[in-house]
Amino acid sequence: VTIDTLVESPARICENTLFLPNPDIRTPETLFEGRKNSPGLNLNERETQAWLEHRLLHFKPEQFEVESTRPDQAKLMQGMEQCKKAQQSWAATPVKDRVALLQRWAELIIKNKEDLIALLVTEAGKTWADAVAEWREGIDFIHHYCAEGLRALQTPTRLPGPAGEDNQLVWHPRGICLCISPWNFPMAIFLGQIVACLVGGNGVLAKAAPQTQKLTALLLKLAQKAGLPDPLIQNLGPEAASADAAVKTLPVDAVFFTGSTATARTIALNLATKPGPIIPFVAETGGVNCMIVDSTALLEQVCDAIVQSAFGSAGQRCSALRVVYVQEDISERLKTMVTGAMALLRVGKPVSKDIDIGPLIDESAWRRMQTACRHFGLEEETLQADQTFEFKPRLIEIALPGELQTEWFGPLLQWVSYGRDQFETVCSTIEQSGWGLTFGLHSRLPSRAQRVANLPVGNVYINRSMTGAVVGSQPFGGQGFSGTGPKAGGHHILFSAMVERCVTHNT
Ligand code: ALA
Repeated sequence: VTIDTLVESPARICENTLFLPNPDIRTPETLFEGRKNSPGLNLNERETQAWLEHRLLHFKPEQFEVESTRPDQAKLMQGMEQCKKAQQSWAATPVKDRVALLQRWAELIIKNKEDLIALLVTEAGKTWADAVAEWREGIDFIHHYCAEGLRALQTPTRLPGPAGEDNQLVWHPRGICLCISPWNFPMAIFLGQIVACLVGGNGVLAKAAPQTQKLTALLLKLAQKAGLPDPLIQNLGPEAASADAAVKTLPVDAVFFTGSTATARTIALNLATKPGPIIPFVAETGGVNCMIVDSTALLEQVCDAIVQSAFGSAGQRCSALRVVYVQEDISERLKTMVTGAMALLRVGKPVSKDIDIGPLIDESAWRRMQTACRHFGLEEETLQADQTFEFKPRLIEIALPGELQTEWFGPLLQWVSYGRDQFETVCSTIEQSGWGLTFGLHSRLPSRAQRVANLPVGNVYINRSMTGAVVGSQPFGGQGFSGTGPKAGGHHILFSAMVERCVTHNT
């Protein structure tokens, strides 16, 4: 392996600082097989910049207004009944026909890129690069789960048995799946959960985040246009009660959830005490994700990875880096590079291509980050009239072992120096924290790569950034406090929405 292949992104280096590289440079679809169906858009092309700029300049949010009425219980139950009926004929539809409709949905999502990307920027506060990457990820999820459905669900599996007996294992849909998705990936996670359920013949009750309902409404309109039976996806809408209330009151057959660990626990409790059948629950939650950097690392590459992982998307990714452990011999040098890069990051409303860090999603997220500042003894900010909840990236030096209890969901990074002989102490600290989502290592020592591959986390990244898992290539999701699995974008999650039936026939 040469240094050229190890340094995966052509980051621009300038006086010891690095700019966030454009993800379209990092992962063009030509780079590897898994991305061959992925649409991609190159933000460096003038033509792409022109239409996106124009779209954002003339964006009229009122075109996308969403009806905001609290659904009453009787109406909800009626919707559930219609969904159940639609689900039964959907389940009887051959997999390839279901897939054809879902792929038609993907085509319309590709065709409507201008509105969808503009909504990702204006409603979810995404930078241009993040918006394009998420639009692409949503489409990747549809293609991936459709391919998985065709691969795994079309024919029963025949199993061995004594002469005269025929054993067949067949997958059946569970029924109606409640899909609870977050505001930080209002397109990718929303589509991923729903399509994973639909492809296997389930109906869906969608509880999307209230902050991003315009985008939800547009995606569902495109589903209808693609020909998916209308009542098959029921949308609980912007005024729906909380996720745990939905779990308590509605007759669903499985629950898929992405959000906080605390809410996942409440949902699990509600499901456990709900009378009736035992309901499976898939949760993808947060993490206090760590990175270890030793003195064999390539510092320019590390600087890029830290800035990208801790501050990209304003730190509002469950995968984001929260605590970096740096070997003391290189700590000061690396810190100078990272703080230099931080000083160049442009924070603001992402209407322009030049913004690196968008705002936090809302006032409550912004206030929570002020609490984090108080907690770490950092200077707080004052809320300005008409502020769009920007929060400047922060770095706080802290002594080993660092603070791994609370997940502060924003661009705040703990910097912990460790001694040459403390690599193992750091690994045990991470192991004992209970969080298990992402982890990063920067080291050229094979023994260290082997050691961290055994950490109890879902995604281990070595000598690169630790966000932006690619559907089908890096199945994503954690363990411990960070979720139940199976992973999004992997081979197994489809089956969480299904039951196996084994038919043994004495012929
Ligand atoms: N799947 C998202 C990532 O990898 C959260 O960053």
